[in-house]
Amino acid sequence: MIRLLDDQDLARSLRADVRAGLTAAPKKLPPKWFYDSRGSELFEEITRLPEYYPTRTERAILTLRAPEIARITEAKTLVELGSGSSEKTRLLLDAMLGHGTLGSFVPLDVSDAALSAAVAALSDTYPGLSVSGVVGDFVRHLQHLPDGDSRMVAFLGGTIGNLEPVERASFLAGLRAVLHEGEWLLLGADLVKDPAVLVPAYDDAAGVTADFNRNVLRVINRELGADFDPSAFEHVAVWSPGPEWMEMRLRSRRDQFVRINDLDLTVEFADGEDLLTEISAKFRRDSLAGELAEAGFELRHWWTDPRSWFGLALAQVAHR
Ligand code: AVJ
Repeated sequence: MIRLLDDQDLARSLRADVRAGLTAAPKKLPPKWFYDSRGSELFEEITRLPEYYPTRTERAILTLRAPEIARITEAKTLVELGSGSSEKTRLLLDAMLGHGTLGSFVPLDVSDAALSAAVAALSDTYPGLSVSGVVGDFVRHLQHLPDGDSRMVAFLGGTIGNLEPVERASFLAGLRAVLHEGEWLLLGADLVKDPAVLVPAYDDAAGVTADFNRNVLRVINRELGADFDPSAFEHVAVWSPGPEWMEMRLRSRRDQFVRINDLDLTVEFADGEDLLTEISAKFRRDSLAGELAEAGFELRHWWTDPRSWFGLALAQVAHR
């Protein structure tokens, strides 16, 4: 495994993000801090909820299209960004190994623990495949991806939606910069749809997403010696029609002060004040094709499910 991030780097960036986000107006935190082991388990639980359609919809598209993807790309290396448990990846690995071109798999994730487990499990299932994990952050460490000549980078699950448009543009351009002409990007993107479908997907009846949202407060309590009372914050999910994204917020149920000992910081929340914890942008085919083109990728294939709820884009690095 290549480790571009260690616990110290993570601790340092958590401190910087929390200080910056909680002293900003309006207050915000980056969504990557949801995912400690409890948060990762809660997310896995979310993916099984009846209201949360993205995971199963993307999986259905991949199940159908993986053989085509293998045939079209003939990739020798599959790189997966933010791979987590690498569960959907198996569909791609099976198809690409079946096609006979694939030799190596490079999963990249910030979580050393999740990655180590995934690498061990995949090496076990696929003895002929070279599996080498990279512990890193997909927005900061793209330039350290192993070089290759026939790679496909998979960025699935709709995680691209966590980036704001400006970050998205620099992420895509940065990815383009480390790839060679002809290499591939397989991008999963959740699509704009009726808010009556979107809102429950982020505010489920069982309250799992609410628990996931509040988990970021537990992470800060543990890692930075803070005294957030998670029950003093209400889970809020709203569709924002202008930028076309879902927002998750934590709304203070009362006037309160929160102490963050390790930052020597006290933060005041007014009754009803929101802390923005995640944006999850939803996409349209044409604007996504435009963003890809702007970054130097050509959209070659576009697949959706029968309801057009989720899109899978296969883009190729264009000639400069
Ligand atoms: C993992 C970023 C794709 O935005 O739908 C699920 C995270 N947040 N429920 C998403 C999430 C609330 C998820 N991504």
